[in-house]
Amino acid sequence: MTKRNVHFFTVKCPHFDTSFSFYLYLCRSIYYNKVITMGKEKIILTGDRPTGRLHIGHYVGSLKRRVDLQDAGDYSKMFIFIADSQALTDNIDNPEKVRQNVIEVALDYLACGIDPSKATIFIQSQIPELCELSFYYMDLVSVSRLQRNPTVKSEIQMRNFEASIPVGFFTYPISQAADITAFRATTVPVGEDQEPMLEQAREIVRRFNYIYGETLVEPEILLPDNAACLRLPGTDGKAKMSKSLGNCIYLSESEAEVKEKIMKNMYTDPEHIRVEDPGHIEGNMVFTYLDAFCKPEHFAEYLPDYSDLDELKAHYMRGGLGDVKVKKFLINVMNEELNPIRARRKEYEKDIAYVYEILKKGSEAAREVAAKTLDDVKNSMKINYFADQALIDEHIRKYQG
Ligand code: TRP
Repeated sequence: MTKRNVHFFTVKCPHFDTSFSFYLYLCRSIYYNKVITMGKEKIILTGDRPTGRLHIGHYVGSLKRRVDLQDAGDYSKMFIFIADSQALTDNIDNPEKVRQNVIEVALDYLACGIDPSKATIFIQSQIPELCELSFYYMDLVSVSRLQRNPTVKSEIQMRNFEASIPVGFFTYPISQAADITAFRATTVPVGEDQEPMLEQAREIVRRFNYIYGETLVEPEILLPDNAACLRLPGTDGKAKMSKSLGNCIYLSESEAEVKEKIMKNMYTDPEHIRVEDPGHIEGNMVFTYLDAFCKPEHFAEYLPDYSDLDELKAHYMRGGLGDVKVKKFLINVMNEELNPIRARRKEYEKDIAYVYEILKKGSEAAREVAAKTLDDVKNSMKINYFADQALIDEHIRKYQG
């Protein structure tokens, strides 16, 4: 169809009124949302699937930012949760893995410096209101829209689900919209692979508000600000860090383990054979990781012959700089970042009962917030029958004859 035809079709379309008012509504909604987020409190929410310990990709892509956001005080509330229900959607053959990893993720959060007095940490499955919200949101999304979600698409391929996609997995973007909206999150710090989820959530919010009146808050994604952190590749240079590829560095690993992974496994430049050969920076994981972790002050401490990363890169590209020297520098840089995390983890590991208590308290607090949103949703949908005296009165009159 040409553009002109589309226009013609719209004008002649019997639903012209609906589509035009929907368009007006969208303009209004964008305007209101700006006003709402400008004038109202800013709320952060994010979560992780507990399918394993968290690795440095999670750290540079999201965890580090969360700690900064928590400490900056620009946001009035922060919710961080362990998405165990979502993890079950593609791990139903191994629920024990999910169950065992809830505490691992909680420990990683606390180790990174997420502070339970500043952020509410909770477990997704403990908030039944999220299921109820998801159920209503399911009416606002078409099957074909879900099929078009690029993240779902690639995950279906990755898991060889083609012929037997679990319904729960297929609809997880909807449940993720419930996670976000239940807490009226304005800001969701996640990696770029989550962009389609945020888009889906925004569509659900707009559709809900259009049908039932302004109720839900439209969330925004907050991407990592350092390009190298958008998606940190695995130590082997493969696009994604993943447990099954064995190319991760975990936050809970020791200095010796990290050293071994960098020295033995890290992919550099296969053409850089002798020290004097010119080397490539692009696709060279040692430099990719330095881009993500290195700060100017690291040079004075560990590599005073160079003043910054650009100078180091230039030398490598010219030739005359060996991989081992750069790798040793990277090990120092990473250990400086990871040592305080390791120390904090050790402390919390000594008191696991306390960590469960943190999760329980957090889940209780989160539930109160989600219950309030669910109430608002049901009021907007007018399915709050017993509180709706006007409806009851109307029906009394109707049947009085
Ligand atoms: N899908 C996210 C991940 O795989 C986890 C998640 C679930 C999430 N619900 C969320 C993230 C809501 C942000 C907001 O990492």
